[in-house]
Amino acid sequence: MTTDQNNPISEVQAQNKNGSPAEIYDEMFVPTFFGRFTGLTLKAAGVDYGHSVIDVGCGTGALAVAATNRVGPEGKVAGLDPNEEMLARARVKDVPVDWYHGPAEQLPFEDESFDSVVSQFALMYFEDKPKALQEMHRVLKPGGKLAALVPDAIDRSPGFSVATELLHRLFGEEIVRGMREPFKDGDPDYLRKVCDEAGLQNAEIISATGAGRFNAPADFMKVEGSCAWTLGGLLSEEQLNLLYEESNQAFKPFQQDDGSITINTPCLIIQAVRS
Ligand SMILES: C[S@@+](CC[C@H](N)C(=O)[O-])C[C@H]1O[C@@H](n2cnc3c(N)ncnc32)[C@H](O)[C@@H]1O
Repeated sequence: MTTDQNNPISEVQAQNKNGSPAEIYDEMFVPTFFGRFTGLTLKAAGVDYGHSVIDVGCGTGALAVAATNRVGPEGKVAGLDPNEEMLARARVKDVPVDWYHGPAEQLPFEDESFDSVVSQFALMYFEDKPKALQEMHRVLKPGGKLAALVPDAIDRSPGFSVATELLHRLFGEEIVRGMREPFKDGDPDYLRKVCDEAGLQNAEIISATGAGRFNAPADFMKVEGSCAWTLGGLLSEEQLNLLYEESNQAFKPFQQDDGSITINTPCLIIQAVRS
């Protein structure tokens, strides 16, 4: 895919097919961002050939689908999410995954059902995190591992810090709040406290960095602007075009030789083994 950086309407914007927010999430956010972290999460949970795996807060299934490639035909993968729209999008995929509707706090599985429990970019939205972690631990087989990835603090994420500064400068504090929200659990002490409350005695909080990749400096914000759940639901067409214009300059420091930009994103992963 090529991108003409001088053209204010890039291919990213042209690709926005007016689908449902979940379809747009799957087509725009997963390839550029969320789908690029699956290797980190699966590695942290030690997911391997033949394993049974549950992806908690699976959304449209990026992590569950990646897990099917690791576990192969001998393995078994399930995905669970409380959002029916996200699940509807996951269900149209021709993949060997069993999809379940429901929250992490109440997993519809017997004790000791899975070799691995994985979750990415979801725990920060769970209403009762200790209860959810207890449930994720309960369904693990003895010796099984859980890994739950959340973004580290926004101050340690240069690309998102530039994004919030830009949004603040152009549109004020109200607009920036939503951009900061997913980073709110990015504190190892806080996550340790949640693990203690859940009774996960051997939990560790590890750091790992993944990266979003966008075809041109403005495309990072064009993806955010494509969806009603993110900036697309907050800013007018005129405001979005101003944001995209300003983005060309703001994200230039993240540009690679091929014109694309890389948004390195430090994450924290709760890792625990069922004894
Ligand atoms: C940013 S999406 C991440 C989706 C997916 N893990 C990925 O990597 O693309 C966050 C997901 O967390 C889900 N979620 C929110 N609250 C939840 C809960 N209590 N239990 C399980 N999932 C939840 C949302 O429905 C949403 O699909």
